[in-house]
Amino acid sequence: MKTIFSGIQPSGNLHIGNYIGALRQWVNLQNSESKIQNSELFFCIVDLHAITVPQDPRVLKGKILEVTALYIASGIDPKKSHIFVQSENPDHAELAWILNTITPFGQLERMTQFKDKSQKHEANVGLFDYPVLMASDILLYDTDEVPVGEDQKQHIELTRDLAEKFNSKFGQTFKLPMPMIQKDAARIMSLQNPASKMSKSDKDPLATINLLDSEEEIREKIKKAVTDSGSHISKDQGSEALSNLISIYSAFVNKSFEGSYDELEGKSYSEFKTLLADLIVETLTQIQKRYKEIAGEKSILKDILEEGREFAKDKSSKKLLEVKEKVGLGM
Ligand code: AMP
Ligand code: TRP
Repeated sequence: MKTIFSGIQPSGNLHIGNYIGALRQWVNLQNSESKIQNSELFFCIVDLHAITVPQDPRVLKGKILEVTALYIASGIDPKKSHIFVQSENPDHAELAWILNTITPFGQLERMTQFKDKSQKHEANVGLFDYPVLMASDILLYDTDEVPVGEDQKQHIELTRDLAEKFNSKFGQTFKLPMPMIQKDAARIMSLQNPASKMSKSDKDPLATINLLDSEEEIREKIKKAVTDSGSHISKDQGSEALSNLISIYSAFVNKSFEGSYDELEGKSYSEFKTLLADLIVETLTQIQKRYKEIAGEKSILKDILEEGREFAKDKSSKKLLEVKEKVGLGM
């Protein structure tokens, strides 16, 4: 049996980068026949990670249920996958503490996400330690594969290093997880600045398309998305900005980047933008329809999270006990 684990922070509005890089992959994994029978899937709402940058407490609580509803609206089926909130299972923070004691300081200093975020926010210890908590999330469940966007690759490499180090120090305990990163569209860039990643924390509302944006907002954002000085799509002069839009297109039509480029060759930028906006509107409208049906059902959402927590806790507590025994902790 294979175990798949991934998570998203409830730290802002989920956007099409999260959908393309993570959520869509999760749904495909969940629904692929061969995987269903042999996989155990965990999709976590990683709220302890979210508080490594300042959050408004009332907003954060609401976002946790919003993200849960968006997981379900995007196609995560709680009968096939286990959805739970990270802070509801204290094993994550406890294993992170133990892993801290074998984590070299210098290795965390090299994490590019820490370098980026610590320039934008006050660099607290939690932000520094973020990748160790992520390693703990993954290792607690004997995870085989972690479906994420490109930006998380370095964190999964650290996870593997920590697992190997622990195993060689204390005996075989942790499985070494593999990152599962799509070949195409693994890193969606800002619609306003193709040099920076599409991100929940971008202050420019035109830079991201959120999963809950209205049709008018989506059309306006695509219309205003930066391109280049050209007028027609041509493989000979592919700018970063245009490649990004084609990546988004390829993800929404479920085709390869190359295939989409061939198909679009010769179209005018404005013709292409209309096609792209239509596609995004079509997919997001479906997600939003399901979201509206479930988002108000707070008690159903909480039951789903409780069921997920119980299942997760049952598995993680065994691993944590084994770890504590090996390290020599407790009575
Ligand atoms: P986060 O928003 O940082 O909680 O990310 C949640 C998931 O979405 C992770 O798997 C990320 O790798 C993925 N992700 C976030 N932003 C992007 C992006 N711009 N392009 C592709 N994947 C992304
Ligand atoms: N760090 C991830 C991100 O920001 C979120 C995350 C936390 C995660 N724990 C995880 C992803 C475990 C995969 C597995 O995108």
